[in-house]
Parts: sequence; C-alpha cells; structure tokens
Amino acid sequence: MGYVGLPMAVAFAKKTSVIGIDINQQKINALNHGKNYLRDAPYLDKDIPKLVSEGKLKATTNISAVAREITAYIICVPTPVDEKKRPDLKPIISVGKMLAPILKKGDLVSLESTTYPGTTKEVLLPILESSGLRVGQDFYLAYSPERIDPGSKWKVEDIPKVVGGITPKCGRKAAQLYRTVIKHVVEVSNEKAAEATKILENAFRAVNIAFINEFAQYCHKEGLDVKEIIEAAKTKPYGFMPFYPSIGVGGHCIPVDPWYLIERGRSLGFYFDLLTRSMRINDDMPYFTLNLLRDALDTFEKPLSTSKITILGLSYKKNTADYRESPSLKIYELLKSRAKHVVFYDPYIEQITLHNGEVLHSKESAYSAATESDALIIGTDHQEFLNLDFQKIYDLMRTKIIVDGKNCLNREKLTKMGFYYNGIGRP
Ligand SMILES: NC(=O)c1ccc[n+]([C@@H]2O[C@H](COP(=O)([O-])OP(=O)(O)OC[C@H]3O[C@@H](n4cnc5c(N)ncnc54)[C@H](O)[C@@H]3O)[C@@H](O)[C@H]2O)c1
Repeated sequence: MGYVGLPMAVAFAKKTSVIGIDINQQKINALNHGKNYLRDAPYLDKDIPKLVSEGKLKATTNISAVAREITAYIICVPTPVDEKKRPDLKPIISVGKMLAPILKKGDLVSLESTTYPGTTKEVLLPILESSGLRVGQDFYLAYSPERIDPGSKWKVEDIPKVVGGITPKCGRKAAQLYRTVIKHVVEVSNEKAAEATKILENAFRAVNIAFINEFAQYCHKEGLDVKEIIEAAKTKPYGFMPFYPSIGVGGHCIPVDPWYLIERGRSLGFYFDLLTRSMRINDDMPYFTLNLLRDALDTFEKPLSTSKITILGLSYKKNTADYRESPSLKIYELLKSRAKHVVFYDPYIEQITLHNGEVLHSKESAYSAATESDALIIGTDHQEFLNLDFQKIYDLMRTKIIVDGKNCLNREKLTKMGFYYNGIGRP
C-alpha cells in the first residue's frame, strides 16, 4: 500500500472489492479510517473515504484471514539495493512465502515491483509452487510493470500497462484483470519481456540524464549556458528528446533500478559499461554541486568550514514529500561534516529520520532558513521557491550566493539584484 499499491487499489476498488495488505500497521489503520496518507496523490483524498465507507476498500496486515475472499493478488512491494548496490529481493521473497500457504486453485498473482528479468520465474515461482499447486494449471502468475509517476497528472487508469505471463494463459488472465481498470493493456510474449520493458525504460532515463549531467559539467569549462542550449535543441522536430541536468537523481527508480539490470548482466557474464558509468555520473552530481558551492565561497574568501549553508527543498521531486535517495539530502549529509552550519527548509517535509536515527527538522520558512546564511542551494524546484521574495532573501543573507541545483530560478533577475548565481551547467 505504498506509492504504487495504493493508487492501484483505489483504481480497482471503483470496479470491484479490494483488500489492501501491508506490513505497516499505521498505513492499514489510516486506510480503514478512510484516510489518504500519500500527500503526493491528493486526488485520492475524495476516493478513499468514499470507497472505504461503501465497503469496497478495506485493509489488513493479516493476509491469511482474508485469503478466502481473494482471487487476484497484485504485489507492489519495494525492490531496493543493498549497500553494495546489489538487488535486495527480500520483500518479494517474503510476500511469496506469505502467499504459498494460502494460494488456492484459480488464483492469479501479478508482480508489479520493478526488478531484473528472470525474477518472477526464477525467484517468485518456485516459492509459490512449493504450495504443491502448478502454474498455468492451478494458479496463474504474471509480471506487469508499474509506470506511475507520483505528483504528476497521470492517473493509473490512463497509463498504458504492459503484461506478460509465465504461460500464455497466465498472460491472458492478467491482461483481462488489468483491462477492468486500465484503458490500454499491452500484452507481451512472456513475463521476462515485461520485466525487461520496465528496466529498459528506467535505464534509458538514467543514461540520458547522465549524459546531460556530463554535458552540463562541460558547459562550465566552456562558459556556455546548458539551459539555453537545451531550449534551442528542443526546436528540432525529430530525433531529440530533452533531459535536464541537476544536483543528481533521486527516488525509488532511477538511482536504483538500473543496478538490477547491471547485476543481472554481470551474473550472465555481460557488462553494462555505459549504464554503469551513467549511474556513477549521476551519483557524483552532489559532489559536483559541492564543488560549485566551494568555488562560489572562494570568490568571497569564505571557507566552507566557517559558513552557514541553507538548502531549499529536500525531496527529490518537485511538489512532493518523497525524499527517498534524494540528492538534496545527500548534499545535506556532505555539508554536515564540512560546513559550520547547515539548515534546510522544505514545505512538504516537517522532519525526517536518517538511517542513524538522527532527526532533522525543517525550518519554518525559506526566509528563516536563509537568515544569516552564506549560500543558498536550491535542492528541489518546488513551486513555492519560484515565487519567493528574493529581495527579502538577499537582505537576510550574509553572503549572497545561490547555487541553483535545479536551474529553476531567473538567473538574469537574481544577478541584477546582486546575487552570485551558479546553476548546474550555468556558470
Ligand atoms: N514510486 C514510484 O514512482 C514507482 C514507479 C514505478 C514502479 N515502482 C516500483 O514499485 C515498487 C513499489 O514502490 P513504491 O514506491 O510503491 O514503494 P513504497 O515503499 O511506497 O511501498 C511499498 C509498500 O510495501 C510494504 N511492504 C514491504 N514489505 C511487505 C511485505 N512483505 N508484505 C506486505 N507489504 C510490504 C511497505 O510497508 C510499503 O507500504 C518498487 O519495486 C518500485 O521500484 C515505483
């Protein structure tokens, strides 16, 4: 019942009855009280209380207690990487183990979590078949990647859905299920092709973002403005697709999923060189941003170790609260041990708990965060930041440096005000 599962549950609950299952008791309690806990999906605010009160959507942590009522399972658990960037399939394995003892004849299981080609057949299927039931005869197993884009206008129902089954019948059954809510279902030959489709989509983004990040670094050497060049290149009516440089990539997808493909390739003796290099370029962007900050402070003869730095925006994506793998948070952590003082303000995040248990609190406004600061880093392009009173910020800051990590501010206006402005690829 996370970013992927909850919108999918709501879409299905409009057509049939749905049980949301999660190990997180707080989410289950919230759902059963008709509450939407996904701030990035406000369009669910009306649907959830209505569907819960009509009895079409209910939630539980106890899957065994409801197994009799279920004919189709859709799995949307996380697929993270470990500290060595290797796939961590523990959540999928644990769901498989939960399902094996309760699977019945005729049940359909569809895995949606992003993963490497081969996972459904090689990892999930043997666990499910340990029940004694046989796939394609007794139960049906398919893979269908999720393409949801939290915070965007795209609704589950309108995003074409790719489906592939372990057997043709598995694929047909899953496609039939998805057609009840999704307008365009694309059937591919098997589950591996469906797994590969999703990982191709995300690796494609990672590589293209890495190239524009690399190009942006070159722009600093050349004295070029990457933003101007992308805008000009976009006028080509074919053969060019714009990607934008920034302080780095974040979220559960682009910084994570390509490692699944890289690791799978390696296990087959195949090396994804370009993709590996791309992941490293994207991972290094927070360090590049730190260097930009250092260069700017040098201009004012201000060592980082005596400076106060303000970060505006901690989430990885504009107008959302999602800070998973956020490059802005990475910069915060890098600055913690290097700057005298570092503070942040994010209108969507009041506080966060780091892996080491440390709790970080957002300042109450951009203005209080900027007070007496030596540099402002734009970590997220939240709408609120575009409408700030920068004259007021200029007056509040001690040293007037802006590092625009999202290239979202008006460089000309800020420079005229007297700010020292540096963007990513905008020296
Ligand atoms: N967020 C996105 O934009 C997006 C887009 C496309 C695909 N995906 C993929 O979808 C999958 C889910 O991503 P998400 O963003 O929804 O993650 P999430 O962390 O928001 O949600 C996952 C949920 O699974 C629950 N969970 C974990 N282990 C469980 C278990 N054993 N049994 C029951 N519930 C369990 C967690 O408590 C959590 O609520 C991932 O594979 C991700 O790569 C995500």
